[in-house]
Amino acid sequence: MKKQWWHDKVAYQIYPKSFCDSNGDGIGDLQGIISKLDYLKELGVDILWLSPIYCSPLADQGYDISDYYNIDPRFGTMQDMDELLAEAKKRDMYILMDLVVNHCSDEHEWFQKACQDPDGKYGKYFYIEDVKDGKLPCNWRSYFGGSVWDKLPGHENKYYYHAFHKKQPDLNWENPQVREEIYQMINWWLDKGLAGFRIDAIINIKKVLPWRDFVVDQPEGLSHISNMLKEATGVGEFLGEMRDRTFKPHNAFTVGEVFNEKPEELADFIGDDGYFSTKFDFSTTIFGGSPKGWYDRKKITAEDYKHCCFESQKKSEGIGFLSNIIENHDEPRGVSHYLPDGEVNDTGKKMLATLQFFLKGLPFLYQGQEIGMENYPFQSIEEVDDISTLDEYQLARNAGLTPEEAIKAVGCMSRDNARTPFQWNAGTNAGFTSGTPWLHVNPNYKQINLASQKNDPDSVYSYYRSLISLRKNEKYRETIVHGRLTPVWEDHHNLMAFYRTGPKQTLLVIANYQKDSQTVTLEHDVQNVLINNCSDLKLHDRTLLLEGYQAVVLELSV
Ligand code: GLC
Ligand code: CA
Repeated sequence: MKKQWWHDKVAYQIYPKSFCDSNGDGIGDLQGIISKLDYLKELGVDILWLSPIYCSPLADQGYDISDYYNIDPRFGTMQDMDELLAEAKKRDMYILMDLVVNHCSDEHEWFQKACQDPDGKYGKYFYIEDVKDGKLPCNWRSYFGGSVWDKLPGHENKYYYHAFHKKQPDLNWENPQVREEIYQMINWWLDKGLAGFRIDAIINIKKVLPWRDFVVDQPEGLSHISNMLKEATGVGEFLGEMRDRTFKPHNAFTVGEVFNEKPEELADFIGDDGYFSTKFDFSTTIFGGSPKGWYDRKKITAEDYKHCCFESQKKSEGIGFLSNIIENHDEPRGVSHYLPDGEVNDTGKKMLATLQFFLKGLPFLYQGQEIGMENYPFQSIEEVDDISTLDEYQLARNAGLTPEEAIKAVGCMSRDNARTPFQWNAGTNAGFTSGTPWLHVNPNYKQINLASQKNDPDSVYSYYRSLISLRKNEKYRETIVHGRLTPVWEDHHNLMAFYRTGPKQTLLVIANYQKDSQTVTLEHDVQNVLINNCSDLKLHDRTLLLEGYQAVVLELSV
């Protein structure tokens, strides 16, 4: 595997709508982000990924783009964007935008024109089919519920395809003109000085054609899209072309949101000449999913977490470099999801952070993760904005859950958990806005906020800072970034441990992933303690007693 400039970096995802509001309209914006660049720099972050800020009706919070070449006025202007690029550059920081090209918005000019003239040029930008006797072209279920087919506005017998919401019509990648439009747009942004992109939902660009039904997997008679994706072949032709026409000539950094790729294709995706620089490891986030819906999910345990992480490490070893996360804007807060109820405390939060930073890969923080932000305590569906949660709530209700049971079952998975405003301080609206925030602030903001953690050496924030600075420490960098990862004591219940071996040293990472203490016997002497999330290290000879959720990183004498 070739070494790349970005391997030793730290990345951070900003969800602009909820990060910082500069003008009091309750919506975070580009000037808000600019005002926090110094904060992010001080934290040690190098690469910033911005969730979409293009013009959008915000039906799916910007993942429905109506103009790829302009900034939505709610987020600012193109001048603000240019300012952000320039200010980031001054600080040696890199900006990534979100590339959402599986679909656009139904309010995009292309779709509007397609509705006016489905047989004309723009009709071919989408998947539009004639429907006779109400028989849809296929029985696939869209990700946000219901059929992938909806009536083309203004036409009785024509339907268009959308893998996500009906306001997100899929672009027809089989049409070379569409691909040209997309490459042109990508190059336009890269020429402006973007470092690259996070690439949204990209596996969906290739469909099994001609349309046909797949196995019905739920009583409503539809089939999950993943059934189709398993049989779709040829996505690589599109992705290779996109890489060669855009990313490669710009030496751009790209991180793919890739689900459902075929295992043997990993090298094609993130190998040395892959379609993307890296992809997110979603093995822990997708764990326990049920075709019935969130209400039927299996909760992930410490053992599951360990196996997911090690499995991903093994699969990518020598092939490519993963991007590691504990949360993002589509997931619950990692600390609430991966720590058992009642055990979400600072020690546990720091343990998860340690694992994320010492697994091999590029760590991506999500805004608020660095202060240990937690899930929102949803009491009723009225508090929910996210379209996906609304659908999942309905599924739970249809399955017979009461409203109380349903909100309890889906609230903990809601995408809104991560979308509540960043908690800057204990003041009004957690310092996010002087107006009314578009989404409620988590009521725990008086206890959990940046201002109270910034100068506290024991805070979650300070812990993240020390993890980041260790990753950049000249002495250990090579081992932390590129060192071989070898799991150890895998059968040891609720213990996740591994060696990282580099040319200069061997590190041992140990996490006691439970509330009770436990002991391990080390195979080597300890030379140095690099990280410890508890105040003590109870080491006698080679016997180490770990407190509940204690995590340590030890430099060994080998
Ligand atoms: C990705 C995004 C998600 C969005 C979906 C459709 O999964 O992360 O937020 O809803 O794609 O664009
Ligand atoms: Ca604003």
